[in-house]
Order: sequence, then structure tokens, then C-alpha cells
Amino acid sequence: MSDRWWEGAVIYQVYPRSFADADGDGIGDLAGIARHLDHLRGTDDSLGVDAIWLSPIYPSPLHDFGYDISDYTDVAAEYGTLDELDALIAACHDRGLRFLMDLVPCHTSVEHPWFAESRSSRDNPRRDWYIWADASTGSGPPSNWTAAFGGPSWEWDSVTEQYYLHSFYPEQPDLNWRNPDVAAAMAEVMRFWFRRGVDGFRVDAIFAAIKDDHLRDNPPDRRPSAIPGLGGDTGQDPLWSMNRPEVHHVIRHLRRVASEFPGRVLVGEAYLPVEELAGYLGHGADDEFHLAFNFELLHSPWEHQHLTLAIERSEALHPAGMWPTYALSNHDQSRQATRWGRERARAAAFLLLTLRGVAVLYAGEEIGMVDADPALLPTPPFDRAGRDGCRTPMQWDASPGGGFSTGTPWLPLVDPATRNVLDQRADPASLLALYRRLIAARESSPALGRGGHRSIFGVAPDVLCWLRELDGERVLVMLNIGDEERRCELPPLGVDSGEFVVATSERSGRAMLADLALDPLEGLAVRL
Ligand code: GLC
Ligand code: MG
Repeated sequence: MSDRWWEGAVIYQVYPRSFADADGDGIGDLAGIARHLDHLRGTDDSLGVDAIWLSPIYPSPLHDFGYDISDYTDVAAEYGTLDELDALIAACHDRGLRFLMDLVPCHTSVEHPWFAESRSSRDNPRRDWYIWADASTGSGPPSNWTAAFGGPSWEWDSVTEQYYLHSFYPEQPDLNWRNPDVAAAMAEVMRFWFRRGVDGFRVDAIFAAIKDDHLRDNPPDRRPSAIPGLGGDTGQDPLWSMNRPEVHHVIRHLRRVASEFPGRVLVGEAYLPVEELAGYLGHGADDEFHLAFNFELLHSPWEHQHLTLAIERSEALHPAGMWPTYALSNHDQSRQATRWGRERARAAAFLLLTLRGVAVLYAGEEIGMVDADPALLPTPPFDRAGRDGCRTPMQWDASPGGGFSTGTPWLPLVDPATRNVLDQRADPASLLALYRRLIAARESSPALGRGGHRSIFGVAPDVLCWLRELDGERVLVMLNIGDEERRCELPPLGVDSGEFVVATSERSGRAMLADLALDPLEGLAVRL
């Protein structure tokens, strides 16, 4: 298998707590994931994805549901054991499925032994593994920085009478990446998993890794084009607390470790405009991240001009030879079928999977799952930042437990009777069947899977159109995002007709380019 297997890959995000519960405690687990690998790859009616990425399964007191890690090199008992994880990795590899884990390098849990040592005294050898500072004159926090989920980024520690920094929840103290011992420790964490066969990491919140060493105050937020990040608007421009130039040293360090092992991939997570993100993809073959999430498409309203802008910015601003990485949903954001509407789920799938890019699916989007009604979610919420709604359990069948669990699920299921894998597997007109066809088309058509992208403008109002091309194969992609039928006026393409490769509809056979009309929300891919 190629070392650059991730170019044009489809990655499936599993939120382990919510995927499948094998032991009946209401919480998803590794054994549950192992039971459902057929859904992902290896049989005729599998989705056919290239890799899975597991959100954190490490021991954690769950203040941020696993993104607050108290041990980087073990598995939390509720999910299983290290042996089970080894077996799961092997089972994935047996069916040609790559296995990615989540690396959370910027902060630990308050319960991590490193932090316990660090906070125990000012002269503990691990004191400088975290970011401690005195109160500013006038006894307030050392700077005005605000945390991603609200409130100040500084927490007072009365034992040693200093503040520690947390870019996210107070239970997530930031590691000090200016300390080489921290960098060395994280390298060992990566090696631990790479040696177990992990094919790569999704690297959490990397833009928060390094802060200004003078702790300068952030200015008010005035950027008109700032893209929304996690936790929404904090009212300030994180000029000195995020996306500092030194973050590139951190990423290069992670990349050097990954490069010790062949064929491994690092996917950076950073809520940044693409022109900033582009710098995270380095300046050469072996520099910084292989991939980095571009969230502009996810944040775009379902409007022609906005979607066009997101696509054009992505194509124009990614460094040559680098692949955009798109997701339309994840465990932090409202699901696309909620944001954009269920009626658009087929068109959204077509968009995601026919663009040039690595496509990251979030478990449940392939059956059109929506966010839970907030009124049905537990109070107080599990997630204080309000993200429980997009984290409800996967709906495998129509039973009340949705086939997720025989026990009481940790979060309620939304609508297993109307939307579930079992029913959709049997229905060739289902959304699930469309996802499978789209992924298969990326396999059978090199142009759709790994080809270049060239936009064609002005084909018709509400119609997005582009050409994918590789090794002489050309595929014309058209998507009507609106509610009216649209007749397309294509520029000269050198041929009068083509052959349907994949469509949101039932179309197949020959396509005459001169009289192509797209139904509302219809997407067509035609090999020329
Ligand atoms: C990432 C995760 C999110 C978490 C945050 C802090 O953005 O996706 O769930 O809360 O980082 O680790
Ligand atoms: Mg369980």
C-alpha cells in the first residue's frame, strides 16, 4: 500500500462513547466498534472508507469527555483494554482499514500525574511543564485571555499562589511547549502508539499549543472575516494566545516523530481561515502536517455564493500538492442534517465526496442523523459547552435502544425507528446507499478520487460545477443546491456527451451535455 495512502482518502470519525456498546453499560466500547467493522469496510455493502479515526479512548475524568487525558498510554476501562485495542487495530488492518487515534498534545487533565507534580510546589521539577504565572499588578489574572468555552484562561491555584493557564476548560491545564522535556514526552507518546500499529493521529486543537511568552493582552476582536471557532465568539482577537508563529516548531517536531515510521499521517485540527491553515501544511515534502481540517465549508451557509467562496478559497490557498481536508460534522458542531436541513443531506454528501479533498465523515451522517432536541437532553448537560446534541448514540436498527446498547444509553437516541443502518442497508434509494455509491465512485474513478479540480462558473443559478481530472480521465461534477430545476449551459468541453459515474438520483447511462437539466438538489457526475 502506498505511503501516501491518505491522498483523497475517506476517513470515518468514531466517537467511541456513542458508536456501539457491547457490554450493556450504556457506553460505547472497543468491543462494540469491533462488531461493526463490516459497516465500514470489507464486505459488499460496507461503506468502503479508507480509515477510521477514534476520538480519545484514554483514561480521563471526562470533564471534556476524553479530551482531558490523565494517561496518554492506556485505554479507559469503560472502553476496554490495551489488548482489545491491539486486536482492533489488527482487525482493521486485515480488512485494509487504517486506524487513526486522537493526539491531544496541548493540555492534559488536572488529574494527570504530570500536573499533580507540577502544582505540588513551585520548585517541583515538573513545575515548568505547565504555564504558571503570578497575578498581575492589581492582583488579577496575568493577562486578559479568554478560554475557548468562556471565562478567563487563568485559574488561581491557592497551594502555590500562582495562576495556571487553560485554553479550554479549567480542568485542562495547558502544557508548556517551550519546555523541551514536554516535547520529548509527547514524542514518546506518539512512538508508543505508532509501534502498536496506529497509522496516524488527528492532532487536537494544535493552534493553541504555544502562547506569547510575554503574556501580552489580546486586543478586542475586529476581524471582519474571522471564522467561528470552538465555543463561538469570545469577544477578543486571540492574537497573543493562539496561532503564534512558534506553533510551527511544535508541528515540525510532531512531524519528525511521525516520519520515523513509514506511511503515517498527521491531520491537524485548527479553527483558522485557510490562508493561516496553509502554513500548517508546511513548505515541502516532509514538513509540518500532511493534512489539516478546513472548516470553512462546514461553517458556510447553504448558499451558492458562500459554498463557492469556501471551495475557491480552499483550492486557491492550499499549497501546491497539498490536499484539503473537509468535514461537514463532528463531535463539536451541530450535524449537517440539522444545520443545512435533512432535505439537503443527499446533496451535502455529494458535495463532500465529489470535491477534491480528504473527506472526513462523522458516524451517523451516512444515515442522516440530526442533533437531539435540547429539551430531551440531560440537565445539567454532560458537556458544559452544549455539545451533547451531536453526540447521541449511533442508530443501528429500529429498536428503542437503536441496536446501540441493551442497557440505558448514556445519551438518549434521537429517532432510531425512522433512521437506522439496518433499514437503509436494505434500501437502494437510501442515504446510506448513496454514501456507499459515492465512495465506490471515488475508487473506480481515479479523477474523482485523486484528480485535480477546476471550477466552471456561470453554468446556471444555484449550480456548482467543476471538473476533476487525472491521467486523461475527466469527470464533470454538477450540483444544484437550490429548489428549482436548472438547465445547464456548459462551456465547450470537446465532447457532446458523457457517461454518468454517480448521481444523487437514479440516472445512469449516457448524458447528453447540450440538454442537461438538474432537478432540485440533484448532483450529477459525468465522465467525459
Ligand atoms: C478539540 C476537540 C474538542 C475539545 C477541544 C479541547 O477541538 O475536538 O472536543 O473540547 O479540542 O481539547
Ligand atoms: Mg460499554
